[in-house]
Amino acid sequence: MSLLLHTFPNDPPTENIVSGSGAYLMTQDGKRYLDMTSGATSCCILGYAHPEVTAAIKAQVDQISYIDYKAWLDPNREALAELLLSRAEHGLDRVFFTGQSGSESCEAAMKLSYQAHQDSGRTEKSWFIAREQSYHGATLHSMVLSDRPNLQFFHKLFPGNCVKIPQHHPNYRMRPGETLADYAERSARELEDKILEIGPEKVCAFIAETIMGGLVGNVPPAPGYWQHIRRVCDRYNVHLIMDEVYCGTGTSGKIYCCDWDGVTPDFIMLGKTMGAGYIPLSAVVTSQRIEQAIAAGQGRVGYSSTHQGHALGVAAALAVQRVIHRDETLDHVQKLGRHMSGAIEAGLGDHPFFVEVRGRGLRFAVEHKTPDNHRFGTQMQQSLKEQHGILVDGKWHRVAFAPPFITTMAQADEVVDRFVTTFKALASSLF
Ligand SMILES: Cc1ncc(COP(=O)(O)O)c(C=O)c1O
Repeated sequence: MSLLLHTFPNDPPTENIVSGSGAYLMTQDGKRYLDMTSGATSCCILGYAHPEVTAAIKAQVDQISYIDYKAWLDPNREALAELLLSRAEHGLDRVFFTGQSGSESCEAAMKLSYQAHQDSGRTEKSWFIAREQSYHGATLHSMVLSDRPNLQFFHKLFPGNCVKIPQHHPNYRMRPGETLADYAERSARELEDKILEIGPEKVCAFIAETIMGGLVGNVPPAPGYWQHIRRVCDRYNVHLIMDEVYCGTGTSGKIYCCDWDGVTPDFIMLGKTMGAGYIPLSAVVTSQRIEQAIAAGQGRVGYSSTHQGHALGVAAALAVQRVIHRDETLDHVQKLGRHMSGAIEAGLGDHPFFVEVRGRGLRFAVEHKTPDNHRFGTQMQQSLKEQHGILVDGKWHRVAFAPPFITTMAQADEVVDRFVTTFKALASSLF
């Protein structure tokens, strides 16, 4: 009998994982799964047991594991910050290490935004605006800014001063006769209307994922959307917080997903993909401007936590990010993403249940429209796992892919081939 309290007490996991290698997970009873989810929560973007990362972790453990963030310097921390900013097109120039989770990077970004306003004399600002169908984390503040129906029962615990505007989704929300450019502008106007409704002097920040992520399935913004959003934020002195916990650090084919959109936010949240599942680590990328506001104000960032910039986590993330920041890695992400999306489109483009394949780099999803979408999505996941040993994230209206960057073209072709045949077979057997 298990002494664990499982996330799903009525339906706990049944298989023991004993090792991982490259894109494969191995079970105790000898099964091998090709993991196109990067660890179910899309963090393990270099796969498992990457030799450069495991060597760096072993070396660091022998040296020192913990170096307090406030009290000491750690040369690896500086090196990681420098690396994380080395390919940034957005121009932000400070990295604040926040802890282990993306939720903590959300908490820290909110607090940094609030404090920078406070320390600049904008003392009425305390409201945050997010979008429907978003996910920002599991703490109460990051949860209230998120929009997961199964967590809404927590609403009595939710902190105040957090509101939402509609999701940004060209497919679902464009009106007849509207162009993408019109929609981008109208969608940003929804933010402006909300700021005006609350009162601009009271709004701290707008927080949003650069591409609408896990819930709706990798929906890139309409061209120009983020420029409109930036202008609205500037007009009312509202910070722009972009959440790249899911779509950052190379997963889109650029280190920062927002660099595809040519926008400079005030804060970028990073998390799960920083340490790629080897050791958890999170951070907020920001600017000297924010640093100066706090330096001239209270002179101390009002967010600190024991494991901020944890030395072992930083050493692991440095090794991970060195691999990711190579030209050949980013080229491979773009090439593999285009190849897999293109091949799925070619295989299913004329199928009546196929809506589209969309996303950026190695964050893409296939949307389906069937008589029972959720059943189709979960059956896709189950059939691919049981019949072909391939792991994908299928539910609701989509099957999401987050392949690790070390996936080979041959593995990608195997996955696409099995996906297309399973899609067609299920479509005719289920309905
Ligand atoms: C976009 C986004 N933001 C924040 C988070 C929260 O990260 P964590 O689960 O590490 O707290 C997630 C996690 O799935 C995420 O996808």
